[in-house]
Amino acid sequence: ARNVHRRGDGVLEVAGVDVLTLQRNFGTAAYVLDEDDFRSRARAFKQAYAAAFVDACGGADVYYAGKAFLCTAVARWVMEEGLFLDVCSGGELAVAQRVGFPGERIGFHGNNKSVAELRAALTYGVGRIIVDSFDEIDRIVALAGELDVVAPVMIRVTVGVEAHTHEFIATGHEDQKFGFALTGGVAFEAAREVLAHPDRLRLLGLHSHIGSQIFDTAGFEASASRLIGLHARIAEELGHNAPEIDLGGGYGIAYTSQHTPLAPALLAEQMSHIVETEFKRIRDVDPDGAVPRVSIEPGRAIVGPAAFTLYEVGTVKPVVVGDGQVRTYVSVDGGMSDNPRPALYEADYSATLANRSSEAPPVVVRVVGKHCESGDIVVLDEWLPGDVRPGDLIAVPGTGAYCRALSSQYNHTPRPPVVAVADGRARVIVRRETIDDLLALDVDEP
Ligand code: LLP
Repeated sequence: ARNVHRRGDGVLEVAGVDVLTLQRNFGTAAYVLDEDDFRSRARAFKQAYAAAFVDACGGADVYYAGKAFLCTAVARWVMEEGLFLDVCSGGELAVAQRVGFPGERIGFHGNNKSVAELRAALTYGVGRIIVDSFDEIDRIVALAGELDVVAPVMIRVTVGVEAHTHEFIATGHEDQKFGFALTGGVAFEAAREVLAHPDRLRLLGLHSHIGSQIFDTAGFEASASRLIGLHARIAEELGHNAPEIDLGGGYGIAYTSQHTPLAPALLAEQMSHIVETEFKRIRDVDPDGAVPRVSIEPGRAIVGPAAFTLYEVGTVKPVVVGDGQVRTYVSVDGGMSDNPRPALYEADYSATLANRSSEAPPVVVRVVGKHCESGDIVVLDEWLPGDVRPGDLIAVPGTGAYCRALSSQYNHTPRPPVVAVADGRARVIVRRETIDDLLALDVDEP
């Protein structure tokens, strides 16, 4: 988080609030979210894409992908910053509704939205439903008839681009559940099907999302090129010039010093060039026709770096691992329940001593959680001062995205709170779960 500094005495502080105060007031483990950092990143994306795409298509819009992390306060920040919002479930839509997020600025994703979810979206007036299958198209036609509305839809296209990222989170290649394949003309047929119901469906555009934690714009360029090619074909053969294309999210962030993400301004600049070149194909079909407006959907790149998790060390255990080698296990009061990403994706994080400075020579330790499972790793190998001890605080940066969102109550562990810090003030935006919360759903009538 950009407002994190280390005080002279070694204590970390964020936006003017030190971690000792955070621990005292909110306990550990806790997610600490730097509000100004979140808002700045959201604004940076919005401004960069609005500016860089002026010549190409009058500016590009930015959706915040709520799946990375969403709660009512964050939905409100996104709304206030003037971004759009990508939701992918009825639950995320309910968060948006709770804060009165304008429906026309919402995009609704998902490969198996239920009838109830679709009904909620159409009733709320969601601006775009991103359709993912022929079954879903049928379902929306029927629902739109029932509700007597015209549903605005985008077609999710599988463009066959495999982004360089962890296999489980790559969604651009064709053998996967999302979207209509470009190859074999499946996506084109989906467009034909949508256009066959002009009284119930409006084809707003085409969408592709090629993966996550991507650092190279080559994948986006390839997907933009293919998407625009399809757009041109739809215009030419079906006579429909769709007004939008969405290039999805996936911008990588630096979890460790190994990664160097591109700044939004540079990303926007690079992507706008390729889009502008590709737009020539649309102008070739219809020289007077408008080109579609571009949008993107970053989640991780906005919220990921804006938060860290604050843990307290409970035990420090040197373990002889053979040949007299010792590995030190530093156990903290959280782990795979609040951040399953290391266990799920072998994701790498870093950790730092947060409550004091230390002159002790650094040693390599393994930071682990408190769960009953040996794969419960927070950071596989990290240099920490050799005198790290129970009671110390450890901060793990970059936990804003897909941590609270993927969290669980594994081992009946109450989920940590999300504490937002801004201008020297900290406030809970998602409260800590309690044991009562854990038991609230149990039904036992002896
Ligand atoms: N748009 C669509 C359609 C998506 O499926 C996703 C992410 C995004 C946008 C946002 O992607 P981002 O900018 O945050 O990379 N749980 C995994 C990540 C799954 C991403 C799923 N889709 C992880 O923790 O790495």
